[in-house]
This record gives sequence, structure tokens and C-alpha cells, in this order.
Amino acid sequence: MATTWWEECIVYQIYPRSFQDTNGDGIGDLQGIIKRMDYLVSLGIDALWLSPIYCSPMADFGYDISDYQNVDPVFGTLDDVDQLIREAHTRNIKIIFDMVFNHTSIEHPWFQESRQSKDNEKADYYIWSDSIPNNWQGAFGKRAWSYDEKRQQYYLHSFLEEQPDLNWRNQEVVDAMFSILTFWLDRGIDGFRLDVINCIFKDKTLRSNPRIVGSRPRPYDMQRHIFDRNRPGTHQKLRMMRQLVDAYPDRMLVGEIMVELPGEPELAASFLGRNRDELHLSFDFSLAYTRFNATKWQRSAKRWCEAIGKNRIPSWVLNNHDIPRIVSRLSGNVAKTKLAALFLLTQRGSIFLYYGEELGLPDSKVPWKSIRDPLGKRYWPVHPGRDPARGPMIWSNEKGFGFTDGESWLPFASNAASYAVAEQEQDASSMLHYYRALIGMRREETVFRRGTCAYLDTNNNHVVCYVREYGDEKRLMLLNFSGRKQRVSIRDKHYPKSDWILRFTSQRMLSDAKAETFILQPWQGCIYSLKSRSS
Ligand code: NOJ
Repeated sequence: MATTWWEECIVYQIYPRSFQDTNGDGIGDLQGIIKRMDYLVSLGIDALWLSPIYCSPMADFGYDISDYQNVDPVFGTLDDVDQLIREAHTRNIKIIFDMVFNHTSIEHPWFQESRQSKDNEKADYYIWSDSIPNNWQGAFGKRAWSYDEKRQQYYLHSFLEEQPDLNWRNQEVVDAMFSILTFWLDRGIDGFRLDVINCIFKDKTLRSNPRIVGSRPRPYDMQRHIFDRNRPGTHQKLRMMRQLVDAYPDRMLVGEIMVELPGEPELAASFLGRNRDELHLSFDFSLAYTRFNATKWQRSAKRWCEAIGKNRIPSWVLNNHDIPRIVSRLSGNVAKTKLAALFLLTQRGSIFLYYGEELGLPDSKVPWKSIRDPLGKRYWPVHPGRDPARGPMIWSNEKGFGFTDGESWLPFASNAASYAVAEQEQDASSMLHYYRALIGMRREETVFRRGTCAYLDTNNNHVVCYVREYGDEKRLMLLNFSGRKQRVSIRDKHYPKSDWILRFTSQRMLSDAKAETFILQPWQGCIYSLKSRSS
């Protein structure tokens, strides 16, 4: 069956502020991404997703847009975007932009006009109320309603006060957003990552969310978000968006779905549409919030696959700009991190990587005085915010680590030089080479991208065991999620031991390959090919 690129791609997320600075202001820019294009090719990725680069006062570092059709000067110009698209396309790399449709910046001209009076042309572009109508909370703390002195009404903001929510019940807003998509599609953008897309449509009468009993640190988590998220009308809007995007060849939509933690995979899957007519892909972040444990990871991955079903495509992700980096979540344990990468890159569907993940880059330590993220400022020291996961890329061991000639906007990771691309290139056992090898294998072997996935029973619950199959091609994965050596035998008569040939290991294989049972070293992951029955 023919597949399109988004059904089996590897997307590399760039947080543009932190990737490569070329003008010495300590902030990454579009020319920086262009400069590193050959590195990106060398990774074997298929697409780049750029966190927002549009004009923004940066209250939430670009997730508060004041002009959707222009580039913030800190990142460059529209000409730079055109050049980026050209340079990427020449190398067969797609460009995905981040699109923030739930809210704008408070400085967007629409909001500036909307707040002037109750009857101006943009009066209904946002959600206004004479009094606080319900119990809705902002995801970043405080109530979701703020008073505007000028209009003498409250406006809704699901995130910061600087991010007023758009009114998707106003057809003019819908048309405006769709024409923004068209603007970028016409320019050659290959797809969009849609920010908190299940939040765009709100309850018509703004009913209060039901409260949850118990106690949680964030007031936002003390209610069931049934009236400010996931409204049925969202699906219709997504179907329209899908039609618009599908009118262009080979474009795609991947949606961020806000869920209750650790995850609601069925909900994330529901936005692909029962008839595959909404988002092309959606994110499930369960693995990022699930303890690193064989049973739990297997259960979580299975649940996601079941929610997606055979005819739709799952996407997989361990890192992004909102969550601590995986190596830091795993307390710096490189063997565990490699195991996690092996799990990630042997799943069916599309994979999302986050810049620096391929280096095993940990979170930066960000002292109070250097905090930039509004969440960090609000919640430190209880929550350090998201800056640690947004530290600069490490290219070399020179001053500024090849990222900048100036003063970096965020601190570098501790021991930064040891993670540098230039260093890792020289070391065959580095994380960088490990990621390249896994990516390379995935690119070469269809079975990893499209094959079915079945979990097999073993006698050892520290080990995750699954088989990928595509026609005659079969691969077996054994992953030891424990810090001890484990013996495993597979209780499946279809796969006798003698048929397996070791293809890849996350660590040097120390065990006897001929032994009746498999022996896995602590945190070791192995990939085996299965000899075909006829051979
Ligand atoms: C989700 C984005 O990933 C996050 O960085 C942002 O702060 C919120 N949406 C609000 O746009």
C-alpha cells in the first residue's frame, strides 16, 4: 500500500531560539538553521518542526503571536523563511510550522481593536463577559478571566493574561485563521503542528467545569475540562482544516492535544477522526509521564496503538520544549536513555525528536536570575519552569559552544563540551552515532516503519518483548528495563529461539548468543532479525 511521507517520517523539532545564533545576539535564528542543514541531513531526519517564529512580544516565547504572517526580527525575515524552505526542500526535508490557533498575543491588532468597545469590528474576535461567568482556570495559574479596563469586561485566556483566547464561534475568526494557513501553504510550508488544538472551541454558554475531589498543586487540574476543551464542534473545524490542507499535495497537520496526565490516548486519537478526516497525526505524551518500567511502558504503548487502530498512524515522542529532557528524567543514566531511544525508534508510524536529544543533552541548570519562562518565574522554586529543556544546542567546545559568539539567552547544560556535536562525531560509541544508526536502520527497513507490532509473553516482567512484521520481514525487540542482568525465554511457539540473529544492541553484547535463553545486560536493548521460514 502506498504511504505518504507523514505516515512514517522522523520529525526533528527545533526550538529556534536555542539552535544556532548567527548574529551574535545570543538567540538562535533562521539563518542558523540554514547553516546547520547538512548536519540535519546527516541525522537522516525527514522533516523539521520549528516552534513559532512569527512576530511576538515573547510573553510565552512565540506562543503569543502578534502577526501570523510575518517573522519576528529576532529570528529573521520572510526572505529567510523562503530560503529555509528552498534549502530544506533541495535536501528532501520538509518544513513544519507551529500554529497557535487557540489564542493570540494581547498585542495582536485584533485584540487591540476588540478591547476598544463592545461594538467595534473585532468586538467578537475574543471571548468577553461582563462578569466572571464560570470556574475556568488558566493552565499557567490564576483564573482564566482577566479584567480589561478599557472595555470594562473580562476576557478569557486559557494560558497567560497576555494570551487572550480567540472566539472560534465567530466565522470571521475561522476564516482569518484559514487564510493564515493558506498564506503559509502557498509559500511552501509542508505542515503545521497545531498548538493545544482541542482547546479552540468553548462551550456556547460557558458552563463551569465539574470539580474533581482530592488535591492537586495546580488549580487547573482540580476540574474536569469538559466545557473549555474537547467540545464536539472542534471536530467539525478540524475536518474543514483537513480539507483545506489536503487540497495541497503532501501536506499535513499534527495536533497537540491537552489531556489529563499521564495521558488520554483515546482522546488524542479521537482527533484523527473516525474516518481519518481530521488531523493527520496527534501526539500522545504518555511515555513522557510514565515511570521507566517495562510493564508500564508496554502498557502505555499498547494502549496508544489500540486507540489509534490499524488504519491510522501513531506518532511517538519522548521530548519537547515543555517537558524535562529524557536523559534528565532518567537521572543522567545513558544506558537507560539509549534503551528509551531504541523503544522509540522501533515503533510503527512517525517519530518526533527534539534538538539535542540525539546528543543525550541534559536539561540546563537555570538559576533564579536567569529564568525566562513565565511559568518558571511564577512557580519557582516549586517548579523551575520549562527553560531547562530549552538550553542551547552544543556544537563544539569553543567559547559559546558554536551556538553563539555573544551571551546565550539561556545557560548551557553543565559539562556542555562533553555533549558537543564535534566531539561526538569523533566517538563511534557516542549517543549521536547511536541515534544515527537507529534512524538509518529505520529508514532502510520498511518493517520498522510500517510493520505490525505484537507484544510477546516472556517469563520475565522486567523485559519488554515485541515483534514487528512486514510481509516476510520480522524483527524481534528485547528490552531490559532493569539495572540487573535478566534471563528471558519467549513463550511463543511461533518464534523458536534458534531463528533469531542479533542485529543491533544498545550496549556491547556480553552474553552467549547460543544460549537457550537470552541474557540481557542491565538496561540493554537488542534487536534481532528472524530468519525467514523457507531459509
Ligand atoms: C503548548 C505549547 O507547547 C507551550 O509551549 C505553550 O506555552 C502553550 N501551548 C500555550 O500556547
